[in-house]
Amino acid sequence: MKKLAIALLGGTALAPAGAMAGELNLICSADVVVCEKLVGAFQGAHDGTTVNMVRLSSGEAYAKIRAEGRNPQTDLWWGGTGDPHLQAAADGLTEEYKSPMLDQLYPWAVKQAEVSGYRTVGVYSGALGWGYNKDIFASKGITPPACWKDLLDPALKGEIEIADPNSSGTAYTALATLVQLMGEDEAFAYLKELNNNVAQYTKSGSAPVKAAARGETGLGIVFQHDAVSQAVEGFPIVVGSPCEGTGYEIGSMSMVLGGPNPDEAKVFYDWVLTPEVQELMPEAGSFQIPSNASAKVPDEAPDLGSIKLIDYDFATYGSSDRRKELLARWDAEIGGRAAE
Ligand code: G6P
Repeated sequence: MKKLAIALLGGTALAPAGAMAGELNLICSADVVVCEKLVGAFQGAHDGTTVNMVRLSSGEAYAKIRAEGRNPQTDLWWGGTGDPHLQAAADGLTEEYKSPMLDQLYPWAVKQAEVSGYRTVGVYSGALGWGYNKDIFASKGITPPACWKDLLDPALKGEIEIADPNSSGTAYTALATLVQLMGEDEAFAYLKELNNNVAQYTKSGSAPVKAAARGETGLGIVFQHDAVSQAVEGFPIVVGSPCEGTGYEIGSMSMVLGGPNPDEAKVFYDWVLTPEVQELMPEAGSFQIPSNASAKVPDEAPDLGSIKLIDYDFATYGSSDRRKELLARWDAEIGGRAAE
């Protein structure tokens, strides 16, 4: 009731003395269950603050912040792949902030901050791969893939889902990974061939493996931890890691420049980087590597040390020009064909 009353009065009038009160407009680009968990925990720990949260895929979140332009409604953007966060930083849409928590983070998370002039920071990481439904593969007699090239097997026609890289950071990570592995022209030739096997390009990055878990499709190209989540829930999903090597995300967080509630945004920003809060993520079925070096890495998290990772060039593939260029080419050569 108190929160509601404060929300209705639109301010701090009913705030108990000494407590922080107000609002925070948050875009959350990780799984909605984690988003809700964090919002609940934050409100519980900061009596009187109302968090207005919307879950948007990484590319959609970037587009929203860009569209709000000089009249921002959003305060903070937590989670989602790092590339669109870097693009927002390069566009000058996000605020420079050096959190006192920075020195507790792994170097990969701090590097994300340095590359962006401290306009974003790493909150978690995870490698790209896929999850396939072993029951469907067994009943159809399909050989499970070990490599990116195996996904072109004609036996997989109509069995693969991946998201649209315009909306999804997961799918953009896949696009940028293939370009870095093969070279741009080869990667687009590969994606054209893969398109023959793709049943659907989804909006959200993890939707493909959720569809595979329910038996609606055979295989989803997703972050490996998203495939693990489905296996942990008891679905017949096997996690795959491509033999040629794979890319990874540095899930990120950015504060919007000129957002309406900068004080609340900073409090959330510092709070969400603490080990205790990062350790809440596995409780919501999310198994990324946390960015705070003191946070316990979930036992279920895919071991990045045993996955063949490429040296993903975040500065280049998170740059505004490169991301725009690759998405335009995807629309022209792949997305358009999918709609035919
Ligand atoms: C899932 C993953 C996150 C990732 C996010 C990107 O929620 O668990 O690690 O950052 O997808 O979402 P998107 O819809 O933009 O691909």
